[in-house]
Amino acid sequence: LEDEARAAFEQATDIDSLEEARVKYLGAKSGVLKDVAKQMGTIDKSDRPTAGQKLNACKSNVESAFAQSQERLGNDGPDGIDPTFDPTLPGVRPNIGHVHPITQTINHLMEIMGRMGFEAAEGPEVEDPWHNFVALNIPEDHPARDPLDNFYLASAASMAGDKGVKRENVEGTRLLRSQTSTVQIRVMENTQPPIRIISLGRVYRPDQPDATHFPMFHQMEGLLVDTNVTMANLKTVLRVFANNYLGDDVEIRFRPSFFPFTEPSVEVDFFWNGSWIEFGGAGMVDPDVFKAVGYDPDKVSGFAFGLGVERLCMRRHGITDIRDLYSGDLRFLRQF
Ligand code: PHE
Repeated sequence: LEDEARAAFEQATDIDSLEEARVKYLGAKSGVLKDVAKQMGTIDKSDRPTAGQKLNACKSNVESAFAQSQERLGNDGPDGIDPTFDPTLPGVRPNIGHVHPITQTINHLMEIMGRMGFEAAEGPEVEDPWHNFVALNIPEDHPARDPLDNFYLASAASMAGDKGVKRENVEGTRLLRSQTSTVQIRVMENTQPPIRIISLGRVYRPDQPDATHFPMFHQMEGLLVDTNVTMANLKTVLRVFANNYLGDDVEIRFRPSFFPFTEPSVEVDFFWNGSWIEFGGAGMVDPDVFKAVGYDPDKVSGFAFGLGVERLCMRRHGITDIRDLYSGDLRFLRQF
């Protein structure tokens, strides 16, 4: 029976004759196999389980023989065209996904700054204390180095535990960078002025997540080094940037502040939609930083700034909770 059915399937030259053969052997009402099944009742009770097994094996062999022939013939119509295909129906748009809103923002910021001649630079997210602290004029006992405010890597931490030394002082210590200012150092170590770069990337701080905090976020670092650079140049670059990204009516304000790697230092606020909002820090590059990278502070001057990318993106798009950006919720992400 098995061989007979297989032969019938193999002889079929199109789907219609194959269907005919299928009905004959596998048909639910009067197929040959169905008939055999009906006779099960007449078999002696003790033989029934073995007979049932044989019938099932036979049925699955016949079914796979049918599937093979079906595959051989394909579902195509006479001219190789699927008869169910209607070329007049509108197509189904493939679901291809899109770029994350933060990546879109990064691309936008690079484009704006690119028009002002700033080239993109990159640095590693796992950093050493030299680039994250020392060269940026952040001394050993500075609170910014506190293990509670930084993600030190575990290997270095356990080494420290053994000898009772502070983990941030251990030779070979690594940490997730807490700021993109690290890239200022890396660029200056490898190039001579004039320098005009931005660096956009992730930074990490052990903050409890809430509407405005997340342990990972992005910064846009800017660095310009040349001769006779002034605070007015810094303010102009940031104003042009803000006008391009947020709008013509945006104003800029500097408030006195302190960073170990800039002198003087300021907080940068933009006036937007009726209120002043802080977007980051900035200042003139501290002479000690120039010395750390081997520049002569009497010959060069420069400015640096660091702005929060999430904050810029959130203001521009009216996003009120930073966690939405990293929840992976497509209902949120599809809006951008
Ligand atoms: N790195 C500083 C921060 O993360 C911001 C900053 C960058 C300040 C460059 C001055 C100059 O807060």
